[in-house]
Amino acid sequence: MSDRSELMQEQAWELLENSILYYQGQPIGTIAARDPDGEALNYDQCFIRDFISSGLLFLIKGRPEIVRNFLEETLKLQPKTGQLDSSKPSRGLMPASFKIQTIDQYEYLKPDFGDYAIGRVAPADSGLWWIILLRAYVIATQDTDLVHRADFQEGIRLILELCLVVRFDMYPMVLVPDAASMIDRRMGLYGHPLDIQSLFYTALRASLELLLPNADNQNILQAVRRRLPPLLKQLRENYWIDPERLNVIYRYRVEEYGEEALNQFNIFSDSIPFYRLAKWLPEAGGYLAGNLGPSQLDTRFFAIGNLMAVITSLTDEYQSHCILNVVELRWNDLIGQMPMKLCFPALEDSDWKTVTGADPKNRPWSYHNGGSWPVLLWMLAAAAKKMDRGELALHAIAIAERRLVLDQWPEYYDGPDGRLIGKEARRFQTWTITGYLLTKELVKNPGHLKLLTFEDEG
Ligand code: GLC
Repeated sequence: MSDRSELMQEQAWELLENSILYYQGQPIGTIAARDPDGEALNYDQCFIRDFISSGLLFLIKGRPEIVRNFLEETLKLQPKTGQLDSSKPSRGLMPASFKIQTIDQYEYLKPDFGDYAIGRVAPADSGLWWIILLRAYVIATQDTDLVHRADFQEGIRLILELCLVVRFDMYPMVLVPDAASMIDRRMGLYGHPLDIQSLFYTALRASLELLLPNADNQNILQAVRRRLPPLLKQLRENYWIDPERLNVIYRYRVEEYGEEALNQFNIFSDSIPFYRLAKWLPEAGGYLAGNLGPSQLDTRFFAIGNLMAVITSLTDEYQSHCILNVVELRWNDLIGQMPMKLCFPALEDSDWKTVTGADPKNRPWSYHNGGSWPVLLWMLAAAAKKMDRGELALHAIAIAERRLVLDQWPEYYDGPDGRLIGKEARRFQTWTITGYLLTKELVKNPGHLKLLTFEDEG
């Protein structure tokens, strides 16, 4: 190991230690960022999605009690009743984040379900991540007592109910509002965004392992088993874009009615940037589209959805290699000077105006709109290691190591090649730090991948 890498890890561990939040004397989570200069806004809170890389790291390093406390305390925040009361968060929803408040010397947790968040966006990913982390906890500790507790079984059930119950939709995907995930601002992700579908698939698979086969769980287990096969098929077939599929879509017939329809979503060829894509997509490449709905196939590449698909075997072996081929062969676009782009390409000009609502924080090649997020390094490394392509991980780590310490662990980078520190990026962002440390652990011992992987059931 190089000196630089060793020093970096030392510093990162120290920063991580300082990011731990204590609640009634117990470690319970990690703060989003400890930037001494930036405005706190909600960065002084513990976000469920931000804690995932911290949690996995604590599990790997033999400190499961933090993860256990986190799971127990966040579960208490989940509303268990009140589904029909629109003024309250829905039953089963997990908060995006929480903070510790002290009133009269008594500490309590204040959740944010989107009722305080900028744009008032409710998180659809929190509950899914919570289930995924719970499964990782069980695998790491072999402690099944916790998950078998009635309150935990109920918590899983309520999250699933929120995703599986009656709704206005004919597809097996879960229907969510825009901005319901890591991309928590308007970015054209209304409907069936890949990032959420990938986590949805993983959480369903995890739930089959976590839910006891008893009378209380019977209905929900049946619903999960029924949903998984069509969901997998839909994602593997209709979200899939490769040169062959591009050819099929290019010549799609439209306005087809009935069971035999080939172009079920009535995608109009003119809505897809064929010439750019035909040039960009390598012959050996393929990836899952960013969103799918009526007359909509969003061809942007989204990193979380695609990388998690590889990690959890949502994509088959061939498709997983195609996704990594895209990363390898379009390295300058997706990795550039900092791994890696949250989504590619950026929405520009009138697209940026209409789709984001002219959001200046998400202007082209910044933040969520084509910005580069170091936290994604761990997902890239996990996907690469899983597919025996560790050299991709090493190459990406080397790039990240050139910058992260010098730049004080920024939240994100801007520019088409990720060379600029994000315009409004926080420094000392915890998931940048834990993403790096987790990457190092996964590369050192790929056995830890078992916390996240599943058998291919295609
Ligand atoms: C921003 C990100 C969100 C993250 C939060 C805390 O709001 O968009 O994904 O959870 O910051 O880091």
